[in-house]
Amino acid sequence: MSSIVYLNGEYVPRSEARISVMDRGFLFGDGIYEIIGVYNGRLFRSEQHLERLQRSLMAIKIEHQFRIEEYEQIIQELLEQNNITTENKYIYIQVTRGISTTRSHNFPKPSVKPSIFMMLDDLVRPSFAQLQKGFKAITREDSRWKDCFIKTISLLPNVLLSEEAIENDATETILIHNGYAIEGSNSNLFNVKNGVIITPPKSEHMLGGITRELIIELAQQNNLPIKENNITLNDLYSSDEIWVTSASRDIMPIVNLDDQIIANGQVGPMWQQMQTIFQGYKDAL
Ligand SMILES: Cc1ncc(COP(=O)(O)O)c(C=O)c1O
Repeated sequence: MSSIVYLNGEYVPRSEARISVMDRGFLFGDGIYEIIGVYNGRLFRSEQHLERLQRSLMAIKIEHQFRIEEYEQIIQELLEQNNITTENKYIYIQVTRGISTTRSHNFPKPSVKPSIFMMLDDLVRPSFAQLQKGFKAITREDSRWKDCFIKTISLLPNVLLSEEAIENDATETILIHNGYAIEGSNSNLFNVKNGVIITPPKSEHMLGGITRELIIELAQQNNLPIKENNITLNDLYSSDEIWVTSASRDIMPIVNLDDQIIANGQVGPMWQQMQTIFQGYKDAL
């Protein structure tokens, strides 16, 4: 565990970091977050993640506190203070609307300073053997709100949906909205059919993942057929391959969905190819 965290301008041991019970993040889940991978001690796609953080802030009407370079400076300081040089970690950044004197749904007036918290944590990756075996997922109706493009800290539906996966010995819950598979409880979704990689088009019903964008970019650069298209539940069951992706999971192959075997139940060749390309891209940074 990396013990020094950043909280509102100070670098303090995690066990000593304190925030008021009147913080709107605590009272209302009124805030947003971001997660950035750190590979071999280096930030992965930080600009894209920090731009999304700025978009999330704008969407919930929190005034920008820092420019992207300022966030990056704090993160670098955090890496140094925790002596991170070659490890794989992730950075968690949370910004809430701040601490108010009374509990009211309405924004504090005059506005208060947002609370900013950052910490480093271990990136737990599946082993090579686990990846080669593939993973199980389940599907559930999407019970979240309609502004899923905002990376809000109000994650109760995601938490409950994700826990259902664990209760069913699965690794992820794929969410169904109006008959279409949208994304996972904390990942984006791809499937492969007849040699074409498919991912649902971006909409307000999903979080536009940074990993998703990179996979689209890498597929295009490497002439792998890819398109954005709606995916029905039946499409999913009859897929040649299914993947879920995120900054903390990379690309996870799903070989069992709702206890149905996908294709031949083996990790597919397109995943193998994309995984090699993705790993090569990361190693080259
Ligand atoms: C709901 C949801 N969709 C997609 C993703 C993947 O996004 P990214 O690739 O930027 O990690 C996440 C990651 O936390 C998520 O929570």
